[in-house]
Amino acid sequence: MQELQQILDQALQQFAVIGDEAELEQVKAKYLGKEGSLTVLLKGLGKLSAEERPAAGARINQVKQGIEAALQQRRDLLQQNKLAQKLAAEALDVTLPGRGLGTGGLHPVTRTLERIEQLFHSLGFATASGPEIERDFYNFTALNIPENHPARAMHDTFYIDPQHVLRTHTSPVQVRYMEANQPPLKIISSGRVYRVDSDATHSPMFHQVEGLWVDEEISFANLKGVVQDFLQRFFEREDLTVRFRPSFFPFTEPSAEMDMSWNGGWLEIGGCGMVHPNVLKHVNIDSEKYLGFAFGLGVERLAMLRYGVNDLRLFYESDLRFLKQFN
Ligand code: DAH
Repeated sequence: MQELQQILDQALQQFAVIGDEAELEQVKAKYLGKEGSLTVLLKGLGKLSAEERPAAGARINQVKQGIEAALQQRRDLLQQNKLAQKLAAEALDVTLPGRGLGTGGLHPVTRTLERIEQLFHSLGFATASGPEIERDFYNFTALNIPENHPARAMHDTFYIDPQHVLRTHTSPVQVRYMEANQPPLKIISSGRVYRVDSDATHSPMFHQVEGLWVDEEISFANLKGVVQDFLQRFFEREDLTVRFRPSFFPFTEPSAEMDMSWNGGWLEIGGCGMVHPNVLKHVNIDSEKYLGFAFGLGVERLAMLRYGVNDLRLFYESDLRFLKQFN
């Protein structure tokens, strides 16, 4: 059976050069398929005599097994190659340094608040706090802003219900603190406040720092000294000065707007005044014996000036490209 040996040699040669699994299966059909050359030979066994048949059948089967074995070997090899390629393509360099965990940082407004508090602490002020959802009474009435008083219209208030507001300023903390403590009092209180307002210099939520100093001999001169000292240290400028312009706030008398010198001009940074006797009366502090000053500063304004930020909204857009610059 010269022919059988040829078929086997040819099959082995062909398999050895095929690099593609699908092609290998197609070539297999040439030998073992319905019309394959070995199949045809097997079918032809019937024409042989009974004596010749077993030996011929055995040889054909031998060749068939040889082809199947070669086929399986080639399949395995192709699969191994495929896997090796895939592994090479997805290789990881485990010796590279890690990327590390991103560490967060403090928000620039938080940094500013911390700096403000630190500086006031060094001037002897304690810290007080109050709720952001505030009773109308503390936000307005106790601060000498009675119902239907036009001063309420100065604040564009978010009302929760007729008795509760999102505090429009930090001044209610003054009242809460004086209710619970007797003079001498020397506190600051910082935190979020809310107003219906939004543009490049106003955000519906912003921060204030409130200051209050009540004692037997407190004057406007003390106020000016404290504020100027604070600002000089905050901006690290010894030549920084403050000036007061007469103004009106229901809870102070007299009242003033505070300006500070900045690049040859003046910038408004908050309001202030001597605590109004009516406010002291509300909390049972003897306004004949005690005097006090109070002030309120805008924190974002201070942060913008210190960091050179020209749009307040940047603080609240949560854009990491902006925020990362402060850490
Ligand atoms: N609460 C005022 C406001 O938000 C600012 C202010 C003015 C606070 C005078 C004070 C003060 O303590 O004495 O507009």
